Amino acid sequence: MTISTAHTGKPLPILIDCDPGHDDMVAIMTAYVATDIDLRGITTVAGNQTGEKTFLNARRILSLLKADDVPLARGCDVPLVRPLHIAENIHGDSGLDGADLPEPREAYSSLHAVDFIADQLSRSDTPLTLVPTGPLTNIALFIRRYPELLSRIERIVLMGGGVSESNVTPAAEFNIFVDPEAADIVFRSGLPLTMVGLDVTNRAMLNLDDIASLQASDGPVSHIVGDLLAFFAGTYKKVFGMAGAALHDALAVAVAAAPDIVTARDLHVAVETKGDHTVGRTVADLYGVTGNAPNASVAMDIDTNRFRSLMFSVFSELDTRCR
Ligand code: BDR
Ligand code: CA
Repeated sequence: MTISTAHTGKPLPILIDCDPGHDDMVAIMTAYVATDIDLRGITTVAGNQTGEKTFLNARRILSLLKADDVPLARGCDVPLVRPLHIAENIHGDSGLDGADLPEPREAYSSLHAVDFIADQLSRSDTPLTLVPTGPLTNIALFIRRYPELLSRIERIVLMGGGVSESNVTPAAEFNIFVDPEAADIVFRSGLPLTMVGLDVTNRAMLNLDDIASLQASDGPVSHIVGDLLAFFAGTYKKVFGMAGAALHDALAVAVAAAPDIVTARDLHVAVETKGDHTVGRTVADLYGVTGNAPNASVAMDIDTNRFRSLMFSVFSELDTRCR
């Protein structure tokens, strides 16, 4: 299955940097099955849960998918300068509560995520797209540590921030809030950047009927995804009053392969690192009042039907492969 409707040529080579996390899991699944994506590797970072737990979850997801061919490396356990703030209220004690996943895959890279990203970029014959779906700690460290490799990055398509929406404080989205100093480095890097923020990802939803139908499925992956998303939807109801599961991170992967699943505007975005009430805010200059040149393509609207049917294609393709 492809994500793009007009795909020709080679699949898009990407690296995912994530903190699984329910929606990170679906992001990995999407990249793994889409034939217009070439998933070159996965790195993990602390965010939704501790670095130990997000890494363990990534290894469990790769076991579930029988994805022996996808390299994995563990990254930073803490943000650049702040203590870690986790999202246990959303993703649970394990970071992936709601179902029992298989035993973790044994194989992983001995490299730190930052060096793993450098290694992949150096060895690739074409530039790679980075898709960060957690706090930007690994990506910022990579930018500082390996300036000579930045030209090997095609684009960064990140899940984070919001123009007018927030979730962890009244001002900030979780991934940016957890490591605003890292996000600041990324947004100032001058690299081609796409921001897939809450304005669109809060609408990248599976509703409660969708989730119930996954739970009722006899597909080995759909069934387990249904149970995991039922837990996730439960916390979304409790914390945000939303009815369903917002698959933020999966949308970032989809946008990397098919930018037309959203409509976007080129804007200047600054990251607030100092405010008393606004740390982690992505300050988007909608009207050009700062005079700063745009540094990001910012997703503003989403084709929700297309996203929802994409998710069902991903799960059904995985059911076929993993039966
Ligand atoms: C982001 O925060 C995390 O909880 C999710 O995995 C997603 O990356 C949404 O704000
Ligand atoms: Ca995430």
